[in-house]
Amino acid sequence: MKNIAILCSGGDVSGMNPAIKHFVEYSIKKGLTPFFVYNGYEGLIDNKIMQANYEDVAGIINKGGTKIFSSRSKRFMQKEYRAQAKANLDKHNIDMLVVLGGDGSFRGMEVFYKEHGIKFCGIPSTIDNDIAGTSYCLGVDTALNVIRNAIDSIRDTASSFGRAFVIETMGRECGYLALVSALTSGAELCLIPEVPYRLQNYENNFQKQIQNGRRYFIAVIAEGIADESQKIAQWFEEKIGIESRISILGHIQRGGNPTVYDRLMAYKFVSHAIDALLNNQTNSVVCFNEDGFSYKSIDEVAKRKYRLDNTLLKSLKEMQDV
Ligand code: F6P
Repeated sequence: MKNIAILCSGGDVSGMNPAIKHFVEYSIKKGLTPFFVYNGYEGLIDNKIMQANYEDVAGIINKGGTKIFSSRSKRFMQKEYRAQAKANLDKHNIDMLVVLGGDGSFRGMEVFYKEHGIKFCGIPSTIDNDIAGTSYCLGVDTALNVIRNAIDSIRDTASSFGRAFVIETMGRECGYLALVSALTSGAELCLIPEVPYRLQNYENNFQKQIQNGRRYFIAVIAEGIADESQKIAQWFEEKIGIESRISILGHIQRGGNPTVYDRLMAYKFVSHAIDALLNNQTNSVVCFNEDGFSYKSIDEVAKRKYRLDNTLLKSLKEMQDV
């Protein structure tokens, strides 16, 4: 019997629990013994490693977050702690790891693999959708649906009170969440770090819209330009002549029941990851693009900057063309 483990690293996403469930079931089906590493790389260092079975994953498919916890480990960046992690894996006879995380987590794992030969397969998991080489990261669809619900609710009050709302989404330096949310929630304005903007360009158009009866505005702003929110809200008041409020959606975007799409993607990502390890792929990341699933090296995934999809950027331009 060969042993295989799974861990979550970095910001949790809805979709990790369905992935953990399928990991246990698919591993057993393939004749492997599954283990959980609790609390990410911290748990590797502290030997929080436990064998897992069917009962451990019963009733978790519909839950957000991660049953096995996550962390951002500073210690794992240090050689001596990585050696401790390797010693712990040896105690459990584990030499294969499935890692749910972002590009930083994969870079850490690559170093670990090169030092200690622990094979791994990464599954891109971040609501930011900012990993190069894959068009989809686990958790993004659930986050987008949470944002959609939030914006729908804000619209109720915005329309009742006749206000402009500046709504801030997460995503670090990546505007994906803001852009897709703006397009699918009918926002009037969307500002993201990837696209330079001048508020002045929208003035005439927005003022005219108010004259023609528009009562409220929805502006979706990416985290990467959150510093500007105050300025944008003020601009609505002073230049467009409409009362404004700022709404920071924050960590609600990381929670919620995983959507059908994320449950399905969790299933497929995990099957591909375990298959890769069984086929002796030593250090790769499962990616998903238009042409389906593929395996990519760390260089292709974690050492390049992601790029926003051109068709989305084009839609943003169309949406805001004034
Ligand atoms: O990377 C996921 C993410 O939710 C980002 O969108 C956000 O900037 C960050 O993590 C928040 O980190 P923390 O949970 O440590 O506050």
